[in-house]
Parts: sequence; structure tokens; C-alpha cells
Amino acid sequence: MKFGIDAGGTLVKMVKEENNQRFYSKYLSTEIEEVAEMLKQFPEAEVALTGGKATYLQSLIPQEAFQSIEFDATFKGIQTFLKQYQHPLENYIFTNVGTGTSIHHVERDKQERAGGTGAGGGMIQGLGYLLTGETDFERLVTLAAQGDRDNIDLKVKHIYKGDKTPIPGELTAANFGRVLHTKDHVTYSDADKLAAAVGVVGETVTTVSIHAAREFNAEYVVYIGSSFLGNDLLKEVVMRYTVLRGFRPYFIENGEYSGALGTLKLMEEN
Ligand SMILES: Nc1ncnc2c1ncn2[C@@H]1O[C@H](COP(=O)(O)OP(=O)(O)OP(=O)(O)O)[C@@H](O)[C@H]1O
Ligand SMILES: [Mg+2]
Repeated sequence: MKFGIDAGGTLVKMVKEENNQRFYSKYLSTEIEEVAEMLKQFPEAEVALTGGKATYLQSLIPQEAFQSIEFDATFKGIQTFLKQYQHPLENYIFTNVGTGTSIHHVERDKQERAGGTGAGGGMIQGLGYLLTGETDFERLVTLAAQGDRDNIDLKVKHIYKGDKTPIPGELTAANFGRVLHTKDHVTYSDADKLAAAVGVVGETVTTVSIHAAREFNAEYVVYIGSSFLGNDLLKEVVMRYTVLRGFRPYFIENGEYSGALGTLKLMEEN
């Protein structure tokens, strides 16, 4: 039995391989002690760790685990998934929208960090809470998908007011920038506010990603990370905006397990 575990800032992602079968599970990082208790039941198991809380998790478990650098593990996992899904790519950007967002350029068998932004899943949760008091991620993203950003975000066409726009009028000119123009005649629902929060994160993540794609002449941006889980609105914003800017988005099924799977694969090769 083998475990690959990516212990991140918000979630612990776990891949178990047994008899050529793969099982995926995730836990809150605040419950990492319970993950350790579970691992104690399998003292003979081979364990591979990665992520910001890997060393802490190692201190809690009896197995002497293999550890790899998060970016290498994530890259290895992505390559494994792309091969499995028969979607080979040679020159691409991958963007991991986790608690924070990390952006990488891949050329054949080499990855290099190309940037990042503090806009990510943690911002959706934190800003979402400040705006609405909602702490449950599933409820938060379900509400966000029902919201309307139109009275909150200022579009280019709002500024140009019917005049010819130098860039597409539907583009966001200022996230949250319309609020002071609309506040006296509309009320904003929690859903609307959450949609706007997801919107600013999605557009920021995409902007930084496509700048990297342009710099490295990459056609594809591969998006992974638990922030997309059940979060159709984030997916839609990122997909639409990536295409609009002339690049091709690719979402990997189970992509949030890339780090966990990758560290397991690196252990096997070691
Ligand atoms: N059940 C859940 N509970 C909390 N957050 C969730 C849940 N499902 C999805 N998310 C979203 O996923 C984000 C975390 O994504 P991910 O697991 O990829 O990051 P991480 O690895 O923990 O963080 P980092 O890599 O930045 O250390 C959260 O910020 C939240 O937006
Ligand atoms: Mg992570």
C-alpha cells in the first residue's frame, strides 16, 4: 500500500494506491492530526509527502516518509494525468489555484515557476466571509453561481457609455467599481457579492496566467487546484477569459490531486 499526500494550507489531498487501483480523498488541514491517526493504522505502508505542512505531518507519523518539493511533485502529477488522459503537451503554463495561486512554465520535462498572485481560493473564502458571513465552501460557491455581478463590477462599456470602445466593452474595467454608481437604487444579494468575489479572483488568476503564456509562447494554460471544486462560476470565468485573450484553457480531472499523485510517483522512481 502506498500513500501520496499533499498537505496544503487549506486541504490535505491524499492518493492511495493499492492493487493497481487509485483512491482519492481530502481532509481539512485543520484536521491533519486525524490524517496522522489514520496513517498510524498502516505502519508498513510507503508514504510520500509534499506541500507546506509535509514536515509537520512527518513529525506525527511512524513511517519514514519520502518528501519532495511541492512544485516538482505537482509537475510530476500533472504529467502523469496528461499522459493518462492522452493529452500530451510540450510547452504550457500550469496554474495551481490553491489557497494562493502559483504559476509555472513547462518545457518538455522541465518546470520553472513563472509567478503567482495572492488572489486564489483563500481569497474567495476570506473575502466571501467578510461580504456575507458564509464559511461553508460548498454553500459559498453554490450561492456565487446564482449571483449577478452586473451591478457590482464596472465594465468598459459602462465607462464609454455607448461610445466606441478601444477594447471589448464586455471586459471588466474595475472589479467592484460599479458599486458607488448603483448603490442608491439597487440592493446587492449575498449571491451577487460572492459572484463578484469569485469574479475578481478568476480574472486576476487568468490575467497573470496569460501574461506568462504570452511570455513563453505557450498555447495552453492548465488549471488545477481545489478552488475549482464545485465552483462552476470560477471555472466559467477562467475559461471564458482565457479563450477571450487567445489562449486555450485545460482543466484536469482530479487535478487538485496532482501534488499528492506526483510525490507518490517521484517516490516510486527514487
Ligand atoms: N471542502 C472545502 N473546504 C475548504 N475549502 C475548499 C473546499 N473545497 C474546495 N475548497 C477551496 O480550495 C481551496 C484550497 O485549494 P487547494 O487544496 O488546492 O490548496 P492548498 O494546497 O490547501 O493550499 P496551498 O497550495 O496554497 O498551500 C480553498 O481555499 C477553497 O477555496
Ligand atoms: Mg497546494
